[in-house]
Amino acid sequence: MDNKPLIIANWKMNPTSQKEVERLWDSVKGGIKKNKTIEIIICPPFIWLPFISSMSAKGGFALGSQDCFWENSGAYTGEISSLMLKDLGCQYVVVGHSERRKYFGESDEIINRKLKAVLKNRMKPVFCVGEEIRDSFNEDGQQINEMGLIVGEQLEKGLTGISPERIREIIFAYEPIWSIGTGQACLPDDAMKARLFIRKILSKLYDRRIAERARIIYGGSVDSKNVSDYIKGAQMDGVLVGSASVNASEFNRIIDRVAERKQ
Ligand code: PGA
Repeated sequence: MDNKPLIIANWKMNPTSQKEVERLWDSVKGGIKKNKTIEIIICPPFIWLPFISSMSAKGGFALGSQDCFWENSGAYTGEISSLMLKDLGCQYVVVGHSERRKYFGESDEIINRKLKAVLKNRMKPVFCVGEEIRDSFNEDGQQINEMGLIVGEQLEKGLTGISPERIREIIFAYEPIWSIGTGQACLPDDAMKARLFIRKILSKLYDRRIAERARIIYGGSVDSKNVSDYIKGAQMDGVLVGSASVNASEFNRIIDRVAERKQ
């Protein structure tokens, strides 16, 4: 098993031109290439995948996509399959990101199909789960465990019919929605609780060995100042970085911080 910490860069729908992509790449490639202690996965928008893929031979990172369709080919206008992504050199696919759930109505059932398609094509899904609200209370004023309720359901439904052999290929990303793009990072203790909770559910759905081996990362307003709290403090296996991953100097600092923590 690979114990290197993971940094997944989710560029989302950025940058908007080839020139800007080249500029961003020029500013981050040095930091990516020189590091040997971290596994870095770059997930650009589909349209920039060929360019970043052409850089991957130089090493230091793996290519991922932010989404895919669940069929391999056919009459699905506008869609891109995991098989096409594989042909381009992608090894990872982010599945179930909260922005896909929110803006494109992706249900747990759709996410389950996508997870199965990615696994069938022998790629690794990055399965995102997370609750929408941080603090909610019932009528008696007692706090509701949103994380437990939502993440538990997303895991159970998303993993339906996925065999124990395949489950090892999945990276689990705990991403509380209230923290994504808000600058409101999750407390490391709460990230750690979510990590333990995901293991508990995996243990229930599969077995303890699978649960203990699962790679579980954190995402949501990660930056160079808080990244060590998650890698070292909360002992997450890595981080999924959104907006800070398209800020070259910030992304380089994140790589440095994670590398320091491994020494
Ligand atoms: P953020 O995004 O780092 O901008 O909060 C995280 C994500 O894409 O999941």
